[in-house]
Amino acid sequence: MAVLYRKYRPQSFAEVIGQEHVAQTLTNSITGKNISHAYLFCGPRGSGKTTIARLFAKAINCEKPDGAEPCNKCSSCMEIMQGRSMDLIEIDAASHTGVDDVRQLIEGIKFAPVKSKYKIFIIDECHQLSKSAANALLKTLEEPPTHAIFLLATTEAHKMIATIISRCQRFDFKKLQISEIIKKLEFIAKKENVKFDDSALSLIALNARGSFRDAESLMDQCINFSGSGATVKTDDIKELLGIVEVGQISKFVDLLISKYAKNSILFLNEMAEGGVDLPEFAKTLVFYLRECLLLKINPEFLNAKGSGLSGEEIEKIKSQTAGLTDKQIQNMLELFIDAENKMKYSSIIQLPLELAVIDATNAE
Ligand SMILES: Nc1ncnc2c1ncn2[C@@H]1O[C@H](COP(=O)(O)OP(=O)(O)OP(=O)(O)O)[C@@H](O)[C@H]1O
Ligand SMILES: [Mg+2]
Ligand SMILES: [Zn+2]
Repeated sequence: MAVLYRKYRPQSFAEVIGQEHVAQTLTNSITGKNISHAYLFCGPRGSGKTTIARLFAKAINCEKPDGAEPCNKCSSCMEIMQGRSMDLIEIDAASHTGVDDVRQLIEGIKFAPVKSKYKIFIIDECHQLSKSAANALLKTLEEPPTHAIFLLATTEAHKMIATIISRCQRFDFKKLQISEIIKKLEFIAKKENVKFDDSALSLIALNARGSFRDAESLMDQCINFSGSGATVKTDDIKELLGIVEVGQISKFVDLLISKYAKNSILFLNEMAEGGVDLPEFAKTLVFYLRECLLLKINPEFLNAKGSGLSGEEIEKIKSQTAGLTDKQIQNMLELFIDAENKMKYSSIIQLPLELAVIDATNAE
């Protein structure tokens, strides 16, 4: 089966989701023929940096562009899509250990393009360039040949040397929104002819944490798990991801609300003994309490699509929080956010949760 993230990598600016600010400025510079020698794409993983870098490269070397869009038919476009263009050199600074190779490659930008208008370098994870390679890059950026374009991408801009950053036009990519991810997942599901339960796609999107690559690989796993032709169920995804059952969280919140400190702690022990991943439990609990708070403030904030919760679960939250004030839920939320953070450093992983339980069950 095809790997989704390769199959559905956008081939035109129109297919890019989110990142409107980036796409807009880049397409304007293409149509206005106002192209810089160096761009820096910063932002979270799987947000489209490499995708947009390749698109931009393709568009500026395209023989028959349609406005700012590459034609995806000419020999230059084809070569880029097949990864065999002589005028587009991609370097992954993270995996390239041959320090001198990289330096030589960068210095090679002096030579004119083989057949296209521009010779383009995409340097991924450029914060990891070796010192000598970074210096070679800096020297080239100080006096770039007219045919040369550098597209630098990084998830960690703060680790780059300032002199390189200052010579680039910088774009900050955003984490993709859940609703944006869902939209593209729906599109892929249709194309792949796979059915998903209503809240299944939301659950995938939610667990991708803003990275489209992660969303697509989760989707891959789900399709493989359920088999083609079947409907992918929300429960399958939960099992696959080791997601803590919302039902369990809900029971735990019942105990907290009833102020049963002893039973709440016993419950945690049972969870831990039953193999539940406690950090995952804490994360889901915080997520759940947030939904409780949102629902309390305004029921319209919560819908099955955006939260990954089923209608039943939402009804349950409603009855559960009926007797509580906003402030009480807020306090609980703050206690468990704090516990979640402290778990990262605690030698007894359960302890921060237990302390939060005691505070929560003693609260007014
Ligand atoms: N903004 C987006 N619109 C549409 N699809 C996207 C977008 N961002 C990412 N994708 C999808 O996710 C996959 C990975 O994206 P890409 O390689 O561009 O991410 P990246 O930002 O370079 O991540 P990394 O920092 O991990 O290299 C792409 O193949 C594409 O299918
Ligand atoms: Mg990348
Ligand atoms: Zn073309």
